[in-house]
Amino acid sequence: MSTFRTNQRFISKSAAIALIALGLIKSTVSRNEATPITDSLKDCNMMIRSFEGTYYPTFSASNDIYPYGGTQRFEVVTCSNLGVCPDTVSRTTCSWQRYYSLQCAENQGQTSISAYTNSLPNHCYWGTQYQPYGSRNEFSYYSFSFKFNLPPRQTTGATGLTINQAYYQTTVESQADIDLALCDPNWARTAIIDGAISNTEALGSQQSWTINTGAYPLLRLPSSDQIVGISRNGVFIFSGANENGYDSFFPQAYGVNQNPVKNEFDHCLGLQNTFNTYRYVMFSPCMYDISLRKEAVPCILSPSCNASVIDHAQLYAPRQIKTVLPIGFAKDGRVIYGPYRQDGNLWQPCDVDVCNGRMFGDFYGYVATMFHPYMVGCWGPGNSPNKLTAGCTANPRLCTQATYVNNFMAASVFGILFLFALF
Ligand SMILES: *[C@@H]1O[C@H](CO)[C@@H](O)[C@H](O)[C@H]1NC(C)=O
Repeated sequence: MSTFRTNQRFISKSAAIALIALGLIKSTVSRNEATPITDSLKDCNMMIRSFEGTYYPTFSASNDIYPYGGTQRFEVVTCSNLGVCPDTVSRTTCSWQRYYSLQCAENQGQTSISAYTNSLPNHCYWGTQYQPYGSRNEFSYYSFSFKFNLPPRQTTGATGLTINQAYYQTTVESQADIDLALCDPNWARTAIIDGAISNTEALGSQQSWTINTGAYPLLRLPSSDQIVGISRNGVFIFSGANENGYDSFFPQAYGVNQNPVKNEFDHCLGLQNTFNTYRYVMFSPCMYDISLRKEAVPCILSPSCNASVIDHAQLYAPRQIKTVLPIGFAKDGRVIYGPYRQDGNLWQPCDVDVCNGRMFGDFYGYVATMFHPYMVGCWGPGNSPNKLTAGCTANPRLCTQATYVNNFMAASVFGILFLFALF
């Protein structure tokens, strides 16, 4: 059997669940008014504090700066029966250093967020090939920095529009458009992010993302083009289209792509199909501290996972997260919320636009859905072409009752919570 050990400071079975309802503090007008995560430094700090970072250089108390004790900037994670360890050597038991540094800053009234991660998970993982690399007896990291949660109306693309004119960063009008937007694995190129968001990225201490096998022998991802965001535990979130241009979970033939390729994934719904990089493509219950973290199991050997990834994800989602919670952030600086609405139900196809996001007051955020593209489909806001579905998936967004959005809007976004400790 597998064993698992991790030196987590603040997650103990007896720890109280600390919930701070921002909505209750900020909403002075109406209980139905949306109270989203804003672009303030305070909200940015609240969000990163609710994540499982390993190093918070801008916090003040020592145990907030170093959640794993002393002055250690990483978490040591140990798991058995993975096969090849993150240092390229096969052993019965692997240990690795997970590094995930997070900081928010404010400059001239503009909040920015910086993240440094080696994308190694704080849980066991499984796959027969391309085992994740990234830690030997030390770690190397990928880094990102961008404006935090810039409202769409402040982006370059919205310049000159009146408040009554709709603004879409992505507009999809034909089958070719939607396939190009949602089925191209490299759609998330940083170059197409709105200029006002000013995103920068680099490798280790290098000022560019150029793979240098001498300086960073364990970092294998040649560019960030397939990364759409970073999850609350530091694991990369990849585009909903795999390297062959299909949905990894429910692939379907389309156009000239006539050989659907389904990927191998583990019972955390994580994948490692390319570049020796572990990633999520849909919501993973292992983003939270649950029992599945402790064992390396392929999805096909887990009865519930093998029966239905969608049911499995919900079965293992902790009860406490069944509300609107941030589970990560996208490469355009927007928040990615979990799969549940404020009413405890899953986000529905008509709740989101073509990019899998929606407005939360003046702010735009992506949400995790149980249909493709699962987390971030394109840079939003996007339009809502309800008659078009992406060709590469047998599990597309299918919005047939457009009035649904309006009915649920007010109730579903009220009161976004930050969950500071689980279990
Ligand atoms: C997994 O599902 C497939 C198809 O539904 C089935 O043929 C197979 O027996 C299942 N495997 C296990 C271990 O339950």
